[in-house]
Amino acid sequence: MGLEDVLAEEVRVLGGKKISIGVRSVSYSGDDTLLYKSNLHLRTALKILKPIKAFVSRSQDSLYDQVKAMDWSFISSDRTFAVESAVNSRIFKHSKYASLLVKDAIVDSLRERFGKRPNVDITSPDFRIHLHIDNDNVELSLDSSGESLHKRRYRVRQNIAPLNEVLAAGLILTTGWDGKGIFTDPMCGSGTIPIEAAMIAKNIPPGFIRNEFGFMNWDDFNPELWGAIYDDAESKIVNSPDAQIHGSDFSRKSIEISVGNATLAKVDNLINFSTLDIAKYEPPVADSALTVFNPPYGERMSVSDIKNFYKAVGDRLKEAYTNYDVWILSSNKDAMKSIGLRTSKRLTFKNGPLEVKFHKYELYKGSKKKKNIS
Ligand SMILES: C[S@@+](CC[C@H](N)C(=O)[O-])C[C@H]1O[C@@H](n2cnc3c(N)ncnc32)[C@H](O)[C@@H]1O
Repeated sequence: MGLEDVLAEEVRVLGGKKISIGVRSVSYSGDDTLLYKSNLHLRTALKILKPIKAFVSRSQDSLYDQVKAMDWSFISSDRTFAVESAVNSRIFKHSKYASLLVKDAIVDSLRERFGKRPNVDITSPDFRIHLHIDNDNVELSLDSSGESLHKRRYRVRQNIAPLNEVLAAGLILTTGWDGKGIFTDPMCGSGTIPIEAAMIAKNIPPGFIRNEFGFMNWDDFNPELWGAIYDDAESKIVNSPDAQIHGSDFSRKSIEISVGNATLAKVDNLINFSTLDIAKYEPPVADSALTVFNPPYGERMSVSDIKNFYKAVGDRLKEAYTNYDVWILSSNKDAMKSIGLRTSKRLTFKNGPLEVKFHKYELYKGSKKKKNIS
């Protein structure tokens, strides 16, 4: 939530038509080429859903009957499927129950028609059917992504509070980073932010390493088309971009994990990692540069400790980050007040169920710098 505009812009650049922004979603139209490209290239999408039918249903019986009447013959008996749902409705209160009803309707439809039924596999099915119910509006889609697209498959190890890769990419795109210049994260944990920044700089598609998506199980999958799209993306990767990316953390283990993840993501040659406390870490001196990070939110610290910690972070930023645009993500609104810098932009996102704020601080030299310190 909060990244819909960024995603719509990504879709526009990719060639999507009839783009419309919804709540936590962007709809658009296009052909199979765009469907494949969307899965490979969109940094801020979690799932690419291909709608199959929309209808109105005001009762459980009507939902079952309408689903059963649809043509499900593309799921042959030797294939597996699962139903996932997002339900916001007074009629269908429990999304698990709605999923079960749809699953039964599909199984009964196929058994009555062909005398055989496909199996349900909730972990890695061939077909994922996505059920979306908003009051009495039902939409069924085929999930072309399979596993959520935040699973880029470079983060095989992570520290205790890793940022979702899609949110990390969205934060970076929100700052306007164009993959050029200096980029730092002084509390990089398992490296998600610098790795996503480096993938943007090198023009590595987010799905490049993963190279495995739900649509590859569909009968109409076109491997030649996919191969051409993948090869084209590979040919556009920039090996030595005009970017300098730095990641630091005071935890040695986190940096070990970051280096391993960056290697898998094929961006280890672009990121300088260091093991330092933010108080000691010296960001490069620059005329203009960007810092993006998410400090601990303070679940395991006392209120006064977390306020002092954020104050010390703010003091260090004033001291060493001249000419930087600094963006900080945190769910701890009170602690953010202790940073002691004037916020020039404040955005809201959701990190799972948690509401998080993304604050921008502009740290200019001279008179502007003085103005920014409150
Ligand atoms: C919320 S995590 C960052 C998660 C990271 N973005 C990721 O995706 O894995 C905060 C990080 O700040 C680091 N940290 C906490 N205090 C620090 C300090 N004083 N100096 C440097 N790093 C610190 C922790 O080790 C932790 O990895």
